[in-house]
Amino acid sequence: MDKLHIKGGAHLNGRIPVSGAKNSALKLMVACLLTDEPITLTNMPNLADTRFLAQLLETLGVEVYWPKGDSTCHLNGAELKSTIAPYDQVRKMRASFNVLGPLIARSGHATVSLPGGCAIGARPVDLHLQALEAMGADLRVEQGYVKAAAIHGLKGAHVNFAMPSVGATEHAMLTATLAQGETVLENAAREPEIEDLAVCLNSMGAKITGAGTSKIRIEGVEKLSGTTHSVMPDRIEAGTYAMAAAAAGGDVTLEGAPVAALGAMIGKLREAGVTVEADEAAATLRIIRNGSRLKSVSVSTQPHPGFPTDLQAQFMALMSLADGTSIIRETIFENRFMHAPELSRLGADITVRGQEAVVKGVPQLTAAPVMATDLRASVSLVIAGLAAEGETVVNRIYHLDRGFERLEAKLNACGASIERRSEDED
Ligand code: EPZ
Repeated sequence: MDKLHIKGGAHLNGRIPVSGAKNSALKLMVACLLTDEPITLTNMPNLADTRFLAQLLETLGVEVYWPKGDSTCHLNGAELKSTIAPYDQVRKMRASFNVLGPLIARSGHATVSLPGGCAIGARPVDLHLQALEAMGADLRVEQGYVKAAAIHGLKGAHVNFAMPSVGATEHAMLTATLAQGETVLENAAREPEIEDLAVCLNSMGAKITGAGTSKIRIEGVEKLSGTTHSVMPDRIEAGTYAMAAAAAGGDVTLEGAPVAALGAMIGKLREAGVTVEADEAAATLRIIRNGSRLKSVSVSTQPHPGFPTDLQAQFMALMSLADGTSIIRETIFENRFMHAPELSRLGADITVRGQEAVVKGVPQLTAAPVMATDLRASVSLVIAGLAAEGETVVNRIYHLDRGFERLEAKLNACGASIERRSEDED
């Protein structure tokens, strides 16, 4: 298993290009199941997760042409050969579950494994299933699999989600495009990736309005066509590098950044005393901190447009170095503080009390070997390692490879010293 060796202490100076958004790409790829015409996705991030979903789509019969390292991915679902998504493929990557509705819409039936819990929480899929049932799918859970059929086709429905779920909103939206009649999704999630998916689906002939608001209307159509769509830039990747620059100090410009989608994070960075120059028209975000100390700021994660849970761990790393005490509340997932004890190994002063972490800033972090159990937690350790004194070793970095494209290359180009080594090199 690979590790990252990070020599801390260097300021970051330079420019970092933002890649396509993982969490958008994963849902856009699934859209190919809704049409027998080819779909081309550009600005695709080359990540373990997107490659993994491509494999599942191939299992279902989708022809995938996506040369290694290429940012254009061609998907052709003209002839599906299976409607079964096996346990191993759904368990390893939860977004795979989103093939269920599209497979029912296209083929009338599907068998998809339940994803199970994961490192950050139980993550049930009840809201996904409720929406599909409301659209007329007949669902049975047997031996860990959802067996679904819609013999008479899917029908538009009125769905009022008990809470705004990104995955359930996207899943229902994808499925409803081919249902008969109108579907209305209320209390829908408003994350920018949902808008990106709606733009793509509409370019395929779907009739979706209201994506990005809490009420989405989808007028079902008989057939969708192929399209070419550019994946939106990754707001979480951009936010992560913004915090890396703020923690290490320096002057970094993020290029191709989804500025409008990052309002909550930009506000918190400014409160912490970081200079942020945001230029929406140029899609750049310049982060400057030269010499000044960070101020502690409290934050509570919220559905979009609030502060994203996917940036909570990174913000905690930053607050570990701020003057004063900050309270970090996690309201989306019940177990998303796994990075706290690892940050403490680097000298951070963090006490977790239920859904709250009390972070007392320290003047300096010091290097240590660390590891984490999920993607965003792992990258928070990279941020802390960049600011720490000495050489930090981050273990189990396959988590990072699931969601950050060329992480070391991007940070090293700005003066970081990060080296990837395999276990046997130690
Ligand atoms: C998406 O997960 C993202 N994943 C997550 O990013 C992100 O943290 C999350 O949205 C919140 O922004 C992808 O897009 C692939 P939810 P998702 O449904 O859709 C509960 C990362 O690091 N819930 O909005 O699974 C759920 O347990 C990942 O890139 C139900 O109770 O999130 C959670 O507490 C991690 N029943 C809350 O809702 C359901 O049927 C929000 O989850 C569905 C969700």
